[in-house]
Parts: sequence; structure tokens; C-alpha cells
Amino acid sequence: LEPVESNGAGSGFVVVANRLPVDLERLPDGTSRWKRSPGGLVTALEPVLRMNKGSWVGWAGVPDADVDPIIEDGLELHPVPLSSGEVADYYEGFSNGTLWPLYHDVIVRPTYDRKWWAAYVNVNRRFAEAAAKVAAEGATVWVQDYQLQLVPKMLRMLRPDLTIGFFLHIPFPPVELFMQMPWRTEIIEGLLGADLIGFHLPGGAQNFLYLARRLAGQPTSRGNVGVRSKLGVVQVGFRTVRVGAFPISIASAELDELSRRKSVRDRAAKIRAELGNPKHIMLGVDRLDYTKGIDIRLNALEELLIERRIDPADTVMVQLATPSRERVESYIQMRGDIERQVGRINGEFAEVGHPVVHYLHRPIPRDELVAFFVAADVMLVTPLRDGMNLVAKEYVACHSGLNGALVLSEFTGAAAELRQSYLCNPHDLDSVKDAIVSAIEDERDTQRRRMRSLRRQVLAHDVDRWARSFLEALAQDQVAGSALLTD
Ligand code: ADP
Ligand code: G6P
Repeated sequence: LEPVESNGAGSGFVVVANRLPVDLERLPDGTSRWKRSPGGLVTALEPVLRMNKGSWVGWAGVPDADVDPIIEDGLELHPVPLSSGEVADYYEGFSNGTLWPLYHDVIVRPTYDRKWWAAYVNVNRRFAEAAAKVAAEGATVWVQDYQLQLVPKMLRMLRPDLTIGFFLHIPFPPVELFMQMPWRTEIIEGLLGADLIGFHLPGGAQNFLYLARRLAGQPTSRGNVGVRSKLGVVQVGFRTVRVGAFPISIASAELDELSRRKSVRDRAAKIRAELGNPKHIMLGVDRLDYTKGIDIRLNALEELLIERRIDPADTVMVQLATPSRERVESYIQMRGDIERQVGRINGEFAEVGHPVVHYLHRPIPRDELVAFFVAADVMLVTPLRDGMNLVAKEYVACHSGLNGALVLSEFTGAAAELRQSYLCNPHDLDSVKDAIVSAIEDERDTQRRRMRSLRRQVLAHDVDRWARSFLEALAQDQVAGSALLTD
């Protein structure tokens, strides 16, 4: 990492996200180092930014860190410092105790706290100011995700010369839920500061258009929004804001290549051996988050073991769980629940030296994670709600041999594209159990046919295509948008 030499001209392409792609880690000896940040946003955006050679404005992941801008591989990183109070109120509070549960179907009850809202407004203003400083005249600024929904409007007021895009990486809720939000109008108006607002699915875009009419009182188009097509429009005074669906993806070709390497194949074989060469390896890979339905897949496994539809002598489940938002109450509680459940299943069904569930609570290095994907016969992706879920796509990209089966919740964005997976309803435990059993027992030919179709989808629609389709739409002539409204 090298310090940035500013030439004063600023960057032509700027990404603004709550987190930088790397987190500062403070070590016990007082020194610090950078490590990769968790989550799907970073997985998706990092390759895009490296190609476009832009700047990234974001938080370094620890409170009270005053770090200078740095260059990493030609990518400029501009840290926005957060105090420990701001981390508590803006990040853990309003972002992850209010918005995250509200936007994920209120799986956990959102807390509406005026102090948290005030911190959210303040921190959004600081991000807008930081972006305004980094962006060159006429630059394109791409604001990311639910933590920064006020930034588009604030940034436009500071810098009307910029082209501003916004992408929401999580679901956008239906009106019945969104109306709970005490600051609902401010959020819609904040987003309307952008020139283009992107969601994963047409449904989210349509929810937004409805709310823009109802809460901001602006005229909008009424036709259905398509996938990467048929954008919706909102007329905000003389400005036209466009709204579209752009399902995010992964760097499929790179992952495909990595998964074919001999070193990865060898490691996958070794993992199987270390697990005792079971007939079936089932795998879960998630941030430890209550939206991911880790408890549901464990319940399904437990019932299948009780009913003897799964034999603990020849089946293991591996759950890799990255620690996440560890100071937020609902996360603390869920971690305890899951760890108890793992203990209970092993207590009933394991033998000494042969656990049924292997559970690791830590981030796994990339190559090792890919070896786990390669080794797994069945991938378990069972969220109650997920904007996209990149893990499902990563698993598919790692199975060039067409073996393996993906069990996928209908309540993920990925389910709209991965129709040939073993789809299940996580609210219906029998549906999850049946999907798991089919994934284990189906004929090899059926599995190959399904995997071939999934791979066609994932390899053709990679993250580069996602970024290009969003950025091309953002660059399109604004006038083209306003014509749509009169259609
Ligand atoms: P989210 O963005 O909600 O965390 P996604 O499935 O979209 O969910 O993205 C998660 C990303 O984090 C994926 O790239 C996945 O490989 C990675 N990841 C999840 N769990 C782990 C883990 N235990 N170790 C390393 N990487 C992980
Ligand atoms: C999801 C969110 C991202 C977030 C990531 C990790 O992918 O959409 O915005 O960065 O989870 O969560 P964290 O709270 O650790 O940043």
C-alpha cells in the first residue's frame, strides 16, 4: 500500500460505500494491517473497480481510525473516519438495527430511534462531502447500499456537475413495510438525488416507483420494469431519475478457472478425506446473519436424521460462518442459538472423531473456500430473505465437472435466475427437507442437466456485465428518459 500523491484533478470514477474493500485490523502488539472486508458488496465491486481504476470512498472498518488515503494496485482508497459513537448509532444502530431488518421482511423487529437517525444523517453528510472532494469535474459517482441512501441528494446539492448512480444491494421492501419508517419521505427524497437508481429485481424497482409517487408526490412511469431493460422514470422538477433492475453477479470466469486448478482440486480431495470420506458433503457458507436461515437448514438436517432419511454414518454438513455485526443484539442472540443447535445435533448423532456438523466461526481464505465449494456435493442456501446471494452463484461457478447440487431458497434474488436449482420455501420445513433429499438422491444425469443450465446462466451473466449494464444506463442521454414518461 502506498500513500496517494494528489494531483488536484480528482477522480473521474468514484465508488462510495460504507466499507472500503479492505478493513484495518489492529493487532495486539499495537501494529495494524489490512485484510479483506466481509460481504457480497465487496466481492462484487472489487473486480469492477480494479478494471475501471477509480477511487473508493469508505470506512476502514474500525472506530476512531484516522488513516491517510492510499493506493492499492492502482485503486485509490479514501477512508472516511467514524467515531465509536457513530459506529454504534449510524452503523450498528440505524443501518443494522433499523434498515437491515426493515428491508429484510422484518424477520427481526426494527428499532426506530431518533438518535440513530440523527447519526445516519450526519454520517451520510460526511460521506457526501468526502465524495465531493475526491470527484473530478463532471465525474461519475456510484453510491452503494442502504447505509448511504441520503448521499445522492446531499452530493447533488454540493456538486450539481456530477453524474450520480445509486445501487441497493439488499431487497427494497413493499410499501406496507416501508411505511413503518418514521423518516420514509427523507429516504425516498435522498435516493431521488441520483440520476439512476438500481435494484436487483424488478419488484424492488416497482416498490420504489410506487413510493416515489406516494411519498415524494412525483409523477412516475407506470409500466413494468424489466431486467436490464424497460427502466422506470420519476420526474423530479426538471430532472428525470431513472429506476431499473440490475441483478448483481460474481467474477464467474475467474472463479471457474481457480476451481479447476490442480492445487484446489487436491485440497478439495484432502478436505473430503479429512472429513472421513463421507458419501455426501453438505455445505453452508454465510455471514453469520439471521436472514441467512442457518437455523432452518440445521432444523431440516436434524429432522432428517431423526426420521433416518439421512444416515449420520455417511453424511456430514460443514457450516462456514463469517463473524458479522457482533455487537448488535439480534446477532449475539442468533449466534448462541445456532451454536446450541450444532451442539445438540452432534450430541445426538455424532460419534467420537466423527461430528455430523462441522462449524467454523471465522472467515476462510479464498483458495480454501473454493476448495470447500469444489468438495461439496450439496450446497445449502436457505435465507428467509436475501437481495441476491452470491454464494449460490459461486458454488455453481466452481462445478465445471457438472457434479453437485444447489438447494436454494425462493426468497433470494438468485432464485429468479437459478431456476434449475433445488428450490425450496424456507418457511416450510418439509419443502427444505424434500429439496435436500432430492439433491442428495437424484440421478446423476438429472444433476448434470440442472448444473449445466445453472452454469450457462452464471457464466453468461457475470459481475462485469452487471457493472457495464448499470454504468451504460447511467451514461445514457437523460432526455431519453423523460420521453419514456409520456409513453
Ligand atoms: P452477503 O453480502 O449478505 O454477505 P452474499 O452471499 O451475497 O451475502 O456474499 C457473501 C460473500 O462473502 C461471498 O463472496 C462469500 O464467498 C463470502 N463469504 C461468506 N462466508 C464466508 C466465510 N466463512 N469465509 C470467507 N468468505 C465468506
Ligand atoms: C451485505 C451488505 C453490504 C455489507 C455486507 C457486510 O452484503 O449489502 O453493504 O457491507 O453485507 O456487512 P458489514 O456490516 O460487515 O459491512
